[in-house]
Amino acid sequence: MFKQFLSVLVIFVSFKKLEFQLLQSGNCPVIYSVPNFNILAFSGTWYDVANIPIPTLNLGKCVSANYNVDSLNVVHISINYYDGKQMKQLNNAFTITNSTGAYYIQIPAVNMNFEFAIIDTDYSTYGVTYGCAKLGRLKIQLAWILSRKPTLSYNFYAKAISALKQRKLPYKNMKNITQTYCPTIY
Ligand SMILES: *[C@@H]1O[C@H](CO)[C@@H](O)[C@H](O)[C@H]1NC(C)=O
Ligand SMILES: *[C@@H]1O[C@H](CO)[C@@H](O)[C@H](O)[C@H]1NC(C)=O
Repeated sequence: MFKQFLSVLVIFVSFKKLEFQLLQSGNCPVIYSVPNFNILAFSGTWYDVANIPIPTLNLGKCVSANYNVDSLNVVHISINYYDGKQMKQLNNAFTITNSTGAYYIQIPAVNMNFEFAIIDTDYSTYGVTYGCAKLGRLKIQLAWILSRKPTLSYNFYAKAISALKQRKLPYKNMKNITQTYCPTIY
């Protein structure tokens, strides 16, 4: 999956689909996680309520992520999604490490370093995460609205959107993720 993700990025970049908010010119903003962020409290399952779509990556339905923190404080993220036929699991799809107070997703294969931040969360209901990486003169921006349950009430959804908006992060092209009629993973 990891290779798939990388090739998707590469294909995506070569198509230069600038109409998506995923790619823009300029530098990544300096964004920090919530003050006193507690990674252990954030661990566990999060449903993906909305995100900035990565066009060729078919993660359109029933997407959830499992955040597991190991003894070295490294976060391993596994992803579940529906590929149109069945549920798929991507174990250890991303790894997040914490240095200098920020989190990073490292992608050495393409020499990319996604800065990653949990910009808002109450740990028990919703979360908002943001990632950004430089690609030449462009930046790739990713954002997710997460929920502990498959659905998120409008109040929390609006809170999540405003967390992105306040920090001038992309939110207009967020697409809701369908979380209904999701088959069970065996
Ligand atoms: C992240 O790293 C910073 C700096 O090393 C440290 O102060 C902070 O406690 C760490 N946060 C977590 C959640 O591990
Ligand atoms: C997206 O989901 C939120 C709450 O989960 C809802 O309030 C909003 O209307 C949805 N937007 C669209 C375009 O369906």
